[in-house]
Amino acid sequence: MRKTIHQVNSLALWSGSNQEIPPSCQESRPVAEQEENQLSSLSGFVHPIETPEVNSDQMTATTYEEFHTDTEALEVASRVPDSIRGKTILTTGVNRGGIGYATSEAFFNQASESVARLIIAGRTPSKIQQSIESLQQEYPDVEYRALTLDLSSQRAVRQAAAEVLSWSDVPTIDVLVNSAGVMLIPERRLSEDGIGLHFATNHIGHFLFTNLILPKLADAAKGKPKGATRIVNLSSSTAMSGGVRWSDINFEQVNRTLPPDEQPAYSELKAWGTANPEEELYIPREGYSQSKVANALFSIGLNHKFHSKYGTLSLALNSGVIPTELNRSSPPEVVTAIQR
Ligand SMILES: NC(=O)c1ccc[n+]([C@@H]2O[C@H](COP(=O)([O-])OP(=O)(O)OC[C@H]3O[C@@H](n4cnc5c(N)ncnc54)[C@H](OP(=O)(O)O)[C@@H]3O)[C@@H](O)[C@H]2O)c1
Repeated sequence: MRKTIHQVNSLALWSGSNQEIPPSCQESRPVAEQEENQLSSLSGFVHPIETPEVNSDQMTATTYEEFHTDTEALEVASRVPDSIRGKTILTTGVNRGGIGYATSEAFFNQASESVARLIIAGRTPSKIQQSIESLQQEYPDVEYRALTLDLSSQRAVRQAAAEVLSWSDVPTIDVLVNSAGVMLIPERRLSEDGIGLHFATNHIGHFLFTNLILPKLADAAKGKPKGATRIVNLSSSTAMSGGVRWSDINFEQVNRTLPPDEQPAYSELKAWGTANPEEELYIPREGYSQSKVANALFSIGLNHKFHSKYGTLSLALNSGVIPTELNRSSPPEVVTAIQR
């Protein structure tokens, strides 16, 4: 189970190239089996999904066997210069202290292999500006573009997507990194669209945004090998133990009243300090986990729908635990527990 997530992780930055995929990069297991593993890593928490036939010959599946859990983005980027050079990359959730920024920075590991254009998207204009200025100092030759995007609001997402589609000087987007996210919101809160804030921000916002700007990704994929154009969704290790409350997506019911296969892993929640999870409605960790399972399922769904049709490849990854600003909403005792 872990291996599957790790393989996906190693693949995330490898965004394909115009050249043949080197044999050393080709994954030996057929993709249908990989997907089965991805799904089985989630099974017990989600309803079985009917998987349409996937032709493994047509589906790009690559990995570098030498990459491992400590391999850093910079190293991965340095090994795949053709996958980076000249590309247009859009990253959501870019702040100086976060994964979105570090990922964007990794695309510039060597000035000569750099991306051509970086679209920096986030909800806080001052943080977007700060990130662009900081990257610009080191990599002045790249074109930067700021995009204000509040993923928790479908109105704002539609507005941001319309802006992207209106950029006639950005005809294509080669890689979309959906990194933005919120975690462990202490109280149950709904977005302006009436959706739990974790789910609205981490999944629905990205789902909507990705689908709306898909024409530019599909255009980028034209004439390139399948998988050269990528949609990377930041999931989490919590996707392996969390689940989707299909019958109660907004946490309106007490856990013990849910269908058995939607009830959370109580022992795990108790270990995390929830005394009586059976009687709770909303548990922050469950809210976050549900959205991260959805990120993984979204990648699988994107491949089913668009890999054959357009050649785009989607990957969900677990970044591993990285000290960022992700704990901004967490109560101090939770932060301490995570650090321990
Ligand atoms: N760090 C880890 O250990 C870890 C582990 C597993 C998975 N992940 C995943 O990695 C991703 C990145 O997290 P991170 O660690 O880099 O955390 P982070 O430093 O908190 O970055 C999250 C980014 O998302 C943005 N964001 C939050 N709500 C948003 C909204 N409504 N609309 C648009 N942008 C929004 C934040 O903007 P503001 O700064 O303006 O609030 C920030 O730029 C997340 O999806 C997370 O689930 C992280």
